Amino acid sequence: MRDMVEPAASGGEVPAHLAVIMDGNGRWANARSLPRQAGHRAGVKAARNLVEACGDAGVRTLTLFAFSSENWDRPRHEVAFLIELFGRALERELKRLHDNGIRLRFVGDLDRFPDGLRHRISEAERLTAENDRMRLNIAVGYGGRWDILQAARRLAASVETGELSAADIDSECFAGALSLGDMPEPDLFIRTGGERRISNFLLWNLAYTELYFCDTLWPDFDATELATALRWYAGRDRRFGRAEDDESVGATDDVDQVAGRHA
Ligand code: FPP
Repeated sequence: MRDMVEPAASGGEVPAHLAVIMDGNGRWANARSLPRQAGHRAGVKAARNLVEACGDAGVRTLTLFAFSSENWDRPRHEVAFLIELFGRALERELKRLHDNGIRLRFVGDLDRFPDGLRHRISEAERLTAENDRMRLNIAVGYGGRWDILQAARRLAASVETGELSAADIDSECFAGALSLGDMPEPDLFIRTGGERRISNFLLWNLAYTELYFCDTLWPDFDATELATALRWYAGRDRRFGRAEDDESVGATDDVDQVAGRHA
């Protein structure tokens, strides 16, 4: 596995933060005449392999979209199955993640999850809090709009108590109030399963992220697929809204002159 990933990594930069929408478990199971649950179980295995492959490739932060705020609208039995599956996966994988220096964080509105799972989640976060080899964020009950709203509410509460003035809320301050506010924004986003949309994932954070879409169904996304995505990323020219000859911008302090040149 290590050999497959290294050529991509050495060809250019490895994303420091990778964010993934793992789509296609149901279709993977359908194609094999299996129940959807079998697709989700295979999805957990693919997630486990991705964590390992990302560690090998040198990705420092991995954020996985495991359960969106909209997924609560799936049939009750599927929601119940997924909650059970997450709990079991966490129980089974926690020691290995911890032994490998991985720091876990769960992001999302956890209020609707059962107490048992919430307890397990906070225990896992506490246990791994000092790990620094890699960060693994799992978005559950997460929605990008929810995240922006909870940040706005937190900041508004600070304004109400007088800790903060409304005029101090700039982009950096707002970003800091988001669930992943203490981490760099994702460099690369991957969505499997053929759809070309962000589906209410990290709406604020993905503003300048490179977006990679592939048709592979999530359970089939392996180290070779990751290597392909990393190679694609290494070939991207990231300008963050600037023009191509921007090295010259730093040579002057005259903002009007710079604005004129880029108009
Ligand atoms: C997407 O496939 C899968 C989900 C929304 C379910 C949750 C993800 C997993 C079980 C993967 C493992 C994750 C972790 C972190 C334990 P889908 O059901 O939307 O598939 P479809 O589009 O083919 O119906």
